[in-house]
Amino acid sequence: MKHLTPVSALALLLAPAAHAGLRFPCSTLTIQRLDPVVQPGSLPSAHLHHIVGGNAFNASMEGDVGERATCTTCQMSEDFSNYWTAVLYFKHPTNGSYHRVPVVPVQPLLGGSQGATGGLTVYYTQFDLSRDNLKQQSVTTFKPGFRMTVGVPTETGKPHVGLRYQCLTGQSRGPELSDFPDKPCSGGIFATHHFPACWDGKNLDSPDHQSHMYNTINRDGFTNAPACPASHPVRVPQVTFETVWDTSKFNSMWPSGTPNPFVWSFEGKAGGTHADYMFGWKGDSLQRAMAKSECFYDGCGSITKQAMSDANRCTVKDFVGEKTDGWVDKLPGM
Ligand SMILES: *[C@@H]1O[C@H](CO)[C@@H](O)[C@H](O)[C@H]1NC(C)=O
Ligand SMILES: *[C@@H]1O[C@H](CO)[C@@H](O)[C@H](O)[C@H]1NC(C)=O
Repeated sequence: MKHLTPVSALALLLAPAAHAGLRFPCSTLTIQRLDPVVQPGSLPSAHLHHIVGGNAFNASMEGDVGERATCTTCQMSEDFSNYWTAVLYFKHPTNGSYHRVPVVPVQPLLGGSQGATGGLTVYYTQFDLSRDNLKQQSVTTFKPGFRMTVGVPTETGKPHVGLRYQCLTGQSRGPELSDFPDKPCSGGIFATHHFPACWDGKNLDSPDHQSHMYNTINRDGFTNAPACPASHPVRVPQVTFETVWDTSKFNSMWPSGTPNPFVWSFEGKAGGTHADYMFGWKGDSLQRAMAKSECFYDGCGSITKQAMSDANRCTVKDFVGEKTDGWVDKLPGM
């Protein structure tokens, strides 16, 4: 939201629902060491993930996820996709013990989190937050079996554009940062992952899970992606995750003037932030939503929604069975 002045934010609030784009909450499905994109079949995978979405989630996932899943933690009831990121931990500055940081729902500009528990907020945008792209460039949605990642855990410098942090205090999200905040944030740490908008149109995946996609976005925030290159000509919806890590209960254990004590679950700092996407919308439901100008934010007539109280009942089994909560002397799998 960094590029919105208060006046344009107000204009957005008052705008008629005549734009194409989706934004909706998904509750936490599970927190486990599984990664069906990067380490399919590994039970467990190398590090811990926070996962939302459909109950077809498993150590490996092939074929049409939208046909196999029977429930989803996402508000859009035809969306059986899975969305996941690493998990944030607090590393005690003096004794070195770790404690998992809880996730809390994002409080968006329009509407509340509608009863989500934990989880993250997902966006599928066509242009930016307030306009659609139907006249400029049509958007083609993903195919069954499609998957992609953004970011790499081995990155120790700055994460690339679109992978950012914000320090939440009161009503303010503050500026977008390419590093963890250097002071305690009373409202937690806000993490954003923007995925690329251009697909090669052929491969559902690639060896690095990224080269079938191309990122033409060169600015932070919800900006329209510049035209896709000939190598990756298919314009797909711009997928974004927003997650709020509630760091507040650890702030008193962060001595003033010392480095940020939070680490990602692969023992990584800010640069290694990454996210995974496994497409799983049922049938042509996402394409229908993207092709209609009526579909904007939560007011989307052409696809069905469920109450978050129903979404919250969707679960998967604990495949790994290890302790990830409370004080632990090492990160799960490390
Ligand atoms: C997970 O995948 C395995 C291997 O494909 C399969 O046998 C099992 O039934 C799946 N479990 C669930 C709960 O979907
Ligand atoms: C580290 O400090 C925390 C908070 O006081 C405590 O709960 C935890 O048990 C400590 N770990 C060790 C190894 O002493």
